[in-house]
Amino acid sequence: MTRSRVDAPATGPVPSARPASAGEAPRPYRPGELALSAEEMRAAGRHAVDLVVQRLCTVADGPPHAVAGPAELAALLDEPLPEEGGDLTGLLDRLARDVLPLGIRFDHPRCFAFVPTTGNYPAVLADLLSTAHLSVPGAWLVGSGPTRVELTALNWLKELLGLPGHWGGLFVSGGSVANLTALAAARDHHLAGDLAGARLYCSTQAHPSVARAAHLLGLGRDQLTALEPDAGQRLDPRALAARIDADRTAGLRPFAVVATVGTTGTGAVDPVTDLARLCRRHGLWLHVDGAHGAAYAVSERGHHLRDALGHADSLTFDPHKWLFQPYETGCVLVRDPELLRATFRMARHHLDTGYLHPAEARHDEVNLDDLGPQQSRGLRALKVWLSLKTFGAAAFRRAVDHGLHLSDHAAARITAHPDLDLTSPPGLGILTFRCRPPGCPVDPAAADRLQRSVSDAVRATGQALLLTTRVHGRTVLRMCTINPATTTADIDAALGLVVRAGRAMTTVPDEA
Ligand SMILES: Cc1ncc(COP(=O)(O)O)c(C=O)c1O
Repeated sequence: MTRSRVDAPATGPVPSARPASAGEAPRPYRPGELALSAEEMRAAGRHAVDLVVQRLCTVADGPPHAVAGPAELAALLDEPLPEEGGDLTGLLDRLARDVLPLGIRFDHPRCFAFVPTTGNYPAVLADLLSTAHLSVPGAWLVGSGPTRVELTALNWLKELLGLPGHWGGLFVSGGSVANLTALAAARDHHLAGDLAGARLYCSTQAHPSVARAAHLLGLGRDQLTALEPDAGQRLDPRALAARIDADRTAGLRPFAVVATVGTTGTGAVDPVTDLARLCRRHGLWLHVDGAHGAAYAVSERGHHLRDALGHADSLTFDPHKWLFQPYETGCVLVRDPELLRATFRMARHHLDTGYLHPAEARHDEVNLDDLGPQQSRGLRALKVWLSLKTFGAAAFRRAVDHGLHLSDHAAARITAHPDLDLTSPPGLGILTFRCRPPGCPVDPAAADRLQRSVSDAVRATGQALLLTTRVHGRTVLRMCTINPATTTADIDAALGLVVRAGRAMTTVPDEA
């Protein structure tokens, strides 16, 4: 390093450098103050890559979860604004050592919580490159190369999911914004600016981002109808048809249905084909939230899902879930992409956009910022592009199948064990179960508490992370087994920890 800079201390606040005081003329900007020399950049960059490789190669060595208390973190990070700069390499070290490890390590092979992605190394480099290039796949004039990469990555996703070529869309931050984007197009297409009496339908198992999207789109609480699911946690087309008929009779205006492929709780799959038929009959928009589960269609086993997805009007798909991409890599795809343009194109809004005229798309140019809510947007697609080019689609297909195999394995082990009850079958790499050791309380509330205590005890071992959810009103343990680095031995070890924790809690000696 050619400059001498002061590294921030690992803990505790640092005194800020003195800003120019009153009456003292501030020193003018010196060219190069916001840049590093090529030598400095290379040295810090090499160090960052070393830290990344260290992180990726040693994730399984530590616990899947690390957490610190708010006071401890405030002591570590609540610093004064650094008026003068510090040594970049030292700062990277500090972040990698003290800050970034605090959280869930979603790529840990024994992390079964939420919908854990793994990320991948080409995607890390994709972010590095596209950030350095300030890539913006917004208007063609602004980022023609990045736009073309995004269009190609979208075409590959469509092919992986079996969607027809005329579908279109864009990358967004994740499933929540994908749901919002698709439902905005549905609202505008069906309601023509009049929300009075409008009704949107889903099951109570839909992701909460559907309700948030409804709220942001101007629909009141009573305009989203969340129906109780069937015994398999699926939206019931007959119950839905009856509700739509009743709402129509009452003078209301049903306009869209959200079907979930892979509910977050249990991985349940709503009957998309039947729901599509129902929506066609009633002239409603069918949005499929496949944020997690659409990836099933990528696998050998889930090939049949491809036909069903093609019946939708729009689809949410999160490569940052079961396509092993880092956050934020979400995607929304629409049967008729012109309907996205109708909602989002800048020219639709009656503000002075004169400065944008030079960037209007000409001939067959595409302005992706006309299809979604963001104008300046990062090149999320490059992560998908580079990782598919590096590993090949076949490896992704096999990795998705591996996750399905793991959940089958877990279900078989649970079913065979006298202390464990499978409460929902392995749906799209997600399963739920209860721990019922000898002496387990019969009182439902106490048995529910036991599940939470078992989850806490397993977490406290630092050897696995599986959290709880509610199924049919009861607390259950939940596992999502989609990490391609996870082995059947990891599953067995995690279930062994559950059994041991359960037995310890009911003070029965451990036989395992
Ligand atoms: C089915 C479903 N939809 C939407 C979302 C929201 O996705 P994101 O967190 O990427 O916004 C999730 C997240 O887990 C999900 O499981």
